[in-house]
Amino acid sequence: MSNKLNVGVIGCGYWGNHILRNFNNSENWNLHSACDTDKNQLSKQKQLYPDTHFTQDADELFDNPNIDAIAIATPVFSHFELAKKTLESNKHAWVEKPLTANYQEALALNKIAKDNNLCLNVDHTYIYTPSVQMIKEVIDSGELGDPLYFDSVRINLGLFQHDINVVWDLAPHDISILDYCIGKKPTSVSASGASVIKYSKKELENIAYLNLNYNNDMIAHIHVNWLSPVKIRKIIIGGTKKMLVFDDMQNSEKIRIYDSGVNINSKEDIYNSLVQYRIGDMYSPKIDNKEALKEEVDSFYNAIINKSDTITSGQLGADVVNILESANKSMKNNSQLIQL
Ligand SMILES: NC(=O)c1ccc[n+]([C@@H]2O[C@H](COP(=O)([O-])OP(=O)(O)OC[C@H]3O[C@@H](n4cnc5c(N)ncnc54)[C@H](O)[C@@H]3O)[C@@H](O)[C@H]2O)c1
Repeated sequence: MSNKLNVGVIGCGYWGNHILRNFNNSENWNLHSACDTDKNQLSKQKQLYPDTHFTQDADELFDNPNIDAIAIATPVFSHFELAKKTLESNKHAWVEKPLTANYQEALALNKIAKDNNLCLNVDHTYIYTPSVQMIKEVIDSGELGDPLYFDSVRINLGLFQHDINVVWDLAPHDISILDYCIGKKPTSVSASGASVIKYSKKELENIAYLNLNYNNDMIAHIHVNWLSPVKIRKIIIGGTKKMLVFDDMQNSEKIRIYDSGVNINSKEDIYNSLVQYRIGDMYSPKIDNKEALKEEVDSFYNAIINKSDTITSGQLGADVVNILESANKSMKNNSQLIQL
């Protein structure tokens, strides 16, 4: 089809595999080229996509005027240089989460994209899952009331990364869900973590706890851990009216909404209030079964065609990096409170 856009993919490893498959399956995209510095990765992919041009040299993608957009699925420390070259070659950019290894670089990429009217999409895949879309819908409808707290646990016997700690690896998921669904910006952050397993000279934390503060009317807590014997992917959001539990390990009823909370019956004055529990019904909304990356690939195409942002814009990506960087700083400084 003539209105297809041409995409190049850089990084054909674990996640790059999924990116290649989804762009290739899309009716909006032509998987034009792909690059990986590792020959073995390339030869595996060549068999799957015989019509795609494979190369070890990323410049071939930047220099090709027929390529409209480039998706970058390489390790975090390389995102900035590759994304900068992509945007400076006048191509739209899809960058894996987290957008960059520091906030300044994230801001710089946003500026280049804005100055050149290019779309910068950050692959916070979770945002495109039907579950997170449902959570956003429930919160926006006002059903939960005002959000009071967000509590998430993302732990398992995970893959120990060699270039980033557990905060940079797992917390982008929770921070992006929090930012997208609740919409409020935290005012300060503190974190504690430890490298209880020493496997790298860099002392990378394998377990961490993040606290995000919102002017005392909401609080968020995120627990990430590569060392848990059980896999837990759970988020609880408490509101003034109802509470929501998202358990991503469930095959059905991933989201449950509880008509529970507290009622405050005031006596003469606020210091004499009685706080009473209210336990009501629970229901589980029906959630569609769609692949998030497919949704995201379509959304990236639509944003480019309509000259708009995706819901996981460079701005959201930069907000996430700001929080990650501040949490990291706090963790290295005895949980010091960092203002955002
Ligand atoms: N959105 C998600 O849910 C999700 C899930 C997993 C990983 N990721 C992200 O995807 C990225 C890649 O992670 P992964 O697990 O696939 O890693 P990986 O190590 O499996 O794959 C990375 C690939 O990039 C290649 N590479 C490295 N530098 C390169 C360069 N300069 N030019 C070309 N190729 C290069 C490597 O040879 C390797 O094949 C990371 O940023 C990670 O955070 C996102």
